[in-house]
Amino acid sequence: MKRVRKAIFPVAGLGTRMLPAAKTVAKEMLPVVDRPLIHHVIAEARAAGIEHFVLVTGRGKTAMEDYFDHHVELEETLKAKGKTELLDALLADLPKEGEISYVRQMAPHGLGHAVWCARDIIGDEPFAVLLPDVIVDGPTPCIGQAIEAYNQVGGNIVVVEPVPESETHKYGVVTPVSRDGRLIKMSGMVEKPPQGTAPSNLSVLGRYVLQPEIFDILSERQRGAGGEIQLTDAMAKLMQTQAFHAYDYEGESYDCGDRIGWLRANVALTLKRPDLESAARAALAPLLGAK
Ligand code: UTP
Repeated sequence: MKRVRKAIFPVAGLGTRMLPAAKTVAKEMLPVVDRPLIHHVIAEARAAGIEHFVLVTGRGKTAMEDYFDHHVELEETLKAKGKTELLDALLADLPKEGEISYVRQMAPHGLGHAVWCARDIIGDEPFAVLLPDVIVDGPTPCIGQAIEAYNQVGGNIVVVEPVPESETHKYGVVTPVSRDGRLIKMSGMVEKPPQGTAPSNLSVLGRYVLQPEIFDILSERQRGAGGEIQLTDAMAKLMQTQAFHAYDYEGESYDCGDRIGWLRANVALTLKRPDLESAARAALAPLLGAK
């Protein structure tokens, strides 16, 4: 069985739910606590053993290339001022040379199309996909849990979480067949099912391990919900010939592509930072108590 070494991060979407900010600031560069979303998600993948990071970028997204590169003037200034701790932390977060690739999705045709744009860099091996607008806080990296599941059962893994029945129409939803602990055998999935028609309440989170055959299906460029080339549709098709398992991960997710989800992430993750917790509580208490 081939090891999962590479991960795709689709970052070419328009981020309409975060307008007007997303007009000129890539949604994936919005900070949660003190680092952009994409930083959190790359760190998750690195902690799970991913060795190569592929960002699918688009118009207005070049800030991410600068973010994961040296900033010579800043580094020299920090050094001259003796701020070595800060400098070391910045340098430790940089990918090693050649570890990160960028490919451009020339128009936002959908998540499936974004993933397909990375096909030549991935080649003929299984790979991970992480959506950077979802941050997951858990005892171990969420994508690492998916990779561990893949190492056990092979095939394709889709990380899921239960959502209230009334919310299923907002997500990709899987059809479960049987369950063994957190691992769920599945037979289908559907993108944003109309209310009352969802096959379960297990929604797709934005973490996947996929086999390279998905690229052949995506190259058919079939459009689905919203007129977009959907990854969910391609996975549903691949399921006809390959094994798929859903994985009900351990942890807490924050959908930072949404205003309230982003706010929740900022509050929750700030409160988890020992250096910020008490000041954050003091700042938040009067705001929350005022209601
Ligand atoms: P979303 O649907 O959450 O992102 O896609 P979006 O389209 O940017 O956001 P809204 O709904 O308009 O607010 C999940 C991830 O897939 C990327 C996005 O950048 C996001 O990180 N994506 C989406 C692409 O890279 N290309 C696309 O064509 C669509």
